[in-house]
Amino acid sequence: MLPTERLKEKAGRQAAKLISPGMTFGLGTGSTVKWLIEELQDRFPKNANLTVVPTSEQSARLARQAGWQVKELNEVERLELTIDGADEADPSGNLIKGGGGALLREKLVAAASDKLVIIADPTKLVEKLGKFPLPVEVIPFGYRQVQRKITEQFGVAGIQLRRKGEEPFVTDSGNFILDVEFGVIDDPAALDKALQIIPGVVETGLFVGMAHALIHTRPDGGISEKSF
Ligand code: A5P
Repeated sequence: MLPTERLKEKAGRQAAKLISPGMTFGLGTGSTVKWLIEELQDRFPKNANLTVVPTSEQSARLARQAGWQVKELNEVERLELTIDGADEADPSGNLIKGGGGALLREKLVAAASDKLVIIADPTKLVEKLGKFPLPVEVIPFGYRQVQRKITEQFGVAGIQLRRKGEEPFVTDSGNFILDVEFGVIDDPAALDKALQIIPGVVETGLFVGMAHALIHTRPDGGISEKSF
């Protein structure tokens, strides 16, 4: 198996083929997306008039450094395409996202997109979601109540407030993240719904039925593409 970083690179670079000069698209977040950005800069070294709606401040910074126009989601009607990474993807294209903490904006941008293309290395492919702790974005006020409620309601194996050093990790929207160890998630849609109605939950990292395509590398470095 090639090193994971090389496999991320190949997936990210492959997805750049979907972008043409003058396009406006949703730009995901994470280390695989960084390779997409890299490839786009290689392909379009001069100003190719690219406009992006980034899913995080981190991706907005990278886009500005690349010389692209950056728009907020409120400045566009719809997006024809968003390309983003994932922490897990099941055979139906359901996802866990939010390992980088950008799940809220990622879901909003994905929901505004006609097509969501996920780029992933083979370590992200799972039969069933849930090995990766599910990120749940919560408002800081009373987050411990949410933590208690999730623990009681679902009997989870573990639930951690995400931290950056000693302090709670704060999302781009000023919220906290709980990383919840559900174990195997048999019904992602039902779990998403059940979590969403807990007061204080802003968004979950479950992306159910949102991905239209998955571009992933195989362990030998080959590329596979799948539509949903
Ligand atoms: C960001 O919050 C996440 O949803 C990322 O898309 C996901 O964690 C994938 O990240 P990598 O490409 O860095 O593995």
